[in-house]
Amino acid sequence: MTERNIPRHIAIIMDGNGRWAKEKGLPRNEGHRRGTKALEKIISYADKIGVEHLTVYAFSTENWKRPQEEVEGLMKLFDRYLDKELKKVDKDNHRFNVIGDLYSNDIPSKLREKILLLQNKTKDKSGMYFHMAFNYGGRDEILRACKKIMKDVEEGKLKGDEMNEDLFSSYLDTINIPDPDLMIRTSGEIRTSNFLPWQLTYTEFYFTSCLWPDFTTKELDKAIDEFNSRKRRFGKSE
Ligand code: FPP
Repeated sequence: MTERNIPRHIAIIMDGNGRWAKEKGLPRNEGHRRGTKALEKIISYADKIGVEHLTVYAFSTENWKRPQEEVEGLMKLFDRYLDKELKKVDKDNHRFNVIGDLYSNDIPSKLREKILLLQNKTKDKSGMYFHMAFNYGGRDEILRACKKIMKDVEEGKLKGDEMNEDLFSSYLDTINIPDPDLMIRTSGEIRTSNFLPWQLTYTEFYFTSCLWPDFTTKELDKAIDEFNSRKRRFGKSE
């Protein structure tokens, strides 16, 4: 068997929890709960096979528009996930990080405190970085970056003509994170839905009809195999 190339950074849109639940006659929040279980297995496996960065779209800036019961259910799931991770923080080796507008008033302050605590407690670990896109929207991220840039220009810390792609990237939430090599979206939808628009420019896309709660390590292997069959040229000719 030839060595397969493990993508350094995998990004995932975990879609289809609602449909998975509907198919089984269960409430939507049960789909999200099962989706969290699927995610936990994917995190361990990705870390084991040598992925350096895993970024998942957990909650978008648009998801606040969902019914209150569903939003509350999701917040509870995040809260429980953080509690569980904080409890086993000495055993695990991956580094936890959130991208998104963490300081928005919409986010319950207790949840924000737990996120900051887990980020802080895992910052010196040596395993995979697990980035959770939470209250994340790609356009929102770019606008927030522009506002920071304008402030730095106003304060004389930056001149407009110094701006270049690398410098712009450093104003994004993904500062110091390499761009994703592979982006996976489950549930059969073929779009990127405001997920990492700046960072996905040269990323390989993999779409599968598998619903997120059914996404197993085998499904991840399939996506990585497909990634291995692609030729990446980054705009150059062969
Ligand atoms: C999309 O499915 C999924 C979400 C909006 C939430 C994703 C969250 C999780 C998988 C679990 C939370 C993660 C952590 C870290 C605790 P959908 O509801 O849009 O599905 P549908 O399109 O079938 O309705």
